[in-house]
Amino acid sequence: MPSLNENYQNLEESYLFAEIARRVNVYEQSHPGKKIIRLGIGDVTKPLTKKAIEALHEAVDMQASPDTFRGYGPEKGYDFLRKAISGYYKRNGADVDPDTIFISDGAKSDTGNITDLFAKDNAVLVPDPVYPVYVDTNIMDGRKILYMDGTAENNFLPMPDENVKADMIYLCSPNNPTGACYNKEQLKVWVDYARKNQAVILFDSAYEAFVSDPELPRSIYEVEGAKECAIEFASLSKTAGFTGTRCSYTVVPKELVFTASNGKKMSLNEMWNRRHSTKFNGTPFIVQYAAAAVFTEEGMAECRENIAYYMENAKMIADVLRKKGIPFTGGVNSPYIWFECPKGMESWEFFDYLLENAQVVGTPGAGFGRNGKHYFRLTSFGQHESTAEAMERFDRLF
Ligand code: MLT
Repeated sequence: MPSLNENYQNLEESYLFAEIARRVNVYEQSHPGKKIIRLGIGDVTKPLTKKAIEALHEAVDMQASPDTFRGYGPEKGYDFLRKAISGYYKRNGADVDPDTIFISDGAKSDTGNITDLFAKDNAVLVPDPVYPVYVDTNIMDGRKILYMDGTAENNFLPMPDENVKADMIYLCSPNNPTGACYNKEQLKVWVDYARKNQAVILFDSAYEAFVSDPELPRSIYEVEGAKECAIEFASLSKTAGFTGTRCSYTVVPKELVFTASNGKKMSLNEMWNRRHSTKFNGTPFIVQYAAAAVFTEEGMAECRENIAYYMENAKMIADVLRKKGIPFTGGVNSPYIWFECPKGMESWEFFDYLLENAQVVGTPGAGFGRNGKHYFRLTSFGQHESTAEAMERFDRLF
């Protein structure tokens, strides 16, 4: 009999979004005909952009001809895409060498899989609330997790505590779920803390494309010294509607070299390369080809148009919350709106209440950590009509 990874016993029974889907299914079965509006999981509703679709078609045709057909791709991803991403970074004010970019199939997979590079006895520092994948994947490995509180008092942007010693630090900015975004000065404090403590920052910038304030950083590499301490994860899921198409990228700078217990120097870039080439055979060629089209000028303009559309939804949601006097954050440099549950309700209680009485699905804050117990998240990734209808129902309810 195999002995099992018993750390799994320490996880919640199901993943947050799976539990939401389960509850919605139960409700749907017992209330046929009710029109449910889903503003829970941050899944896009706009189709892929014209440029991406054209490139996909072209790539499919390439796969049909012996002259242009591609089999296994290079382990880090195709050069044409890594160069395009490096150019995108440059336009946004960060200098990222294409050789440090690894193409993958999702920021979720990479933020989870990166734990392979680190020993089990590292102390992990995680903001609370935050995207549940960081906590769950470290629980799976049995690592010690230290939490830092994100509350209304610190604008949901926890800063380092010099008395806390961490080895791995997760930051997510713009934050999922709160929508709060660190400024450069704040990120610099994190970078200094990480360098002083020889810690690694695992920086999730999956929502960087939603930053509209030019003063706010879209990448941690806009901050001096970040290459000495930070790995960055980014994705085309929300930027370009690739949630079902799957393409992401992770930057592992070559400066990230640490001394192993036997005195040997180990490079995280080389380790990730080794892991990636051993356990992953790459994002499909046709998807990488479409992703490269996204990073062209025209492709980016199309993405910005879609993002502007979603941000109108964010405004609709924010307007109703403001009118009701419900405190909230996000919705400006982020597609998420995070607010206090009305009537002092707890978040799962509010989830059921909203589903039952308005047939609107959101995400209970408790799923992102204990500081989310009285909070709720709505996403702006719906269509205008359904978002407007959801907020009319919300307006009538309170
Ligand atoms: C979310 O709703 O938090 C995200 O869509 C989940 C994800 O990106 O995996």
